[in-house]
Amino acid sequence: MMLTLALLLLQVAYVFGCGAPAVKPDANRVVNGEDARPHSWPWQISLQVKHGSRFHHTCGGTLIGPRWVLTAGHCIGPGDVYRVVLGEHDMSQQEGTEQIRDILRIIVHPMWDIDFVADGNDLALLKLDKSPVMNDSVGVACLPEAGEIPVHGAPCYISGWGNLYTHGPMPDKLQQALLPVVEHGVCSRSDWWGINVKSTMICAGGDAVSGCNGDSGGPLNCLGRDGRWYVQGVTSFVSSRVCNEVKKPTVFTRTSAFTDWLSDVMLRY
Ligand SMILES: *[C@@H]1O[C@H](CO)[C@@H](O)[C@H](O)[C@H]1NC(C)=O
Repeated sequence: MMLTLALLLLQVAYVFGCGAPAVKPDANRVVNGEDARPHSWPWQISLQVKHGSRFHHTCGGTLIGPRWVLTAGHCIGPGDVYRVVLGEHDMSQQEGTEQIRDILRIIVHPMWDIDFVADGNDLALLKLDKSPVMNDSVGVACLPEAGEIPVHGAPCYISGWGNLYTHGPMPDKLQQALLPVVEHGVCSRSDWWGINVKSTMICAGGDAVSGCNGDSGGPLNCLGRDGRWYVQGVTSFVSSRVCNEVKKPTVFTRTSAFTDWLSDVMLRY
């Protein structure tokens, strides 16, 4: 049974490919955040929470399998009802590319604790009621191999509908910003994040040339040597004072520290 499932997962990954968007992201090293090229991050989803009869965007997330979305543990509130919107670009318009899915199952990392954010494990997996149609506006991101760590300065991109600047408005269009990776040795210096950043996290940005985009649960997208995009991080926390304060990079859950847990959950549920 497990083997059949594993083979099925492999086949699905093979058929659709991962991390290879039909629309190439605009990766020309801009300094601040900007509108993303529509559907160039086709694995980016909008996680929406139900308030009354309406749904509101609350977090980002990443499609990592036909029915699996990766997001942050802190995005999930007990008892709340959520849905996932895929193929979204401009939230203010019906563009005809959106696909809405209900969530069948939510699995928050068992070690995640909102009272101990600095302990890490800020991850959750969402199982969709059914697979979206994979096409030019919806596709899966690649997962890194266990323990793989992008080098210091690696030019990764954060994406999301988060604030454009500190306390700024939420943009309608998906934003992206270049956030170079900051190695753990630097990020954990006492004048940086110190002991608040663990080796199961990855830091990116934190200087004047970085934007303030993206939002919780969304991906840190890094181009692999094979030319595919990998979700190396899940946005976890930022400085509470301002976005991308100097020496206070955005902190992500490091996906490659949780590959066992991810494949375990995706096989089990
Ligand atoms: C992708 O599939 C969805 C759902 O069938 C559809 O609405 C959309 O037009 C398709 N094509 C693109 C480019 O999004």
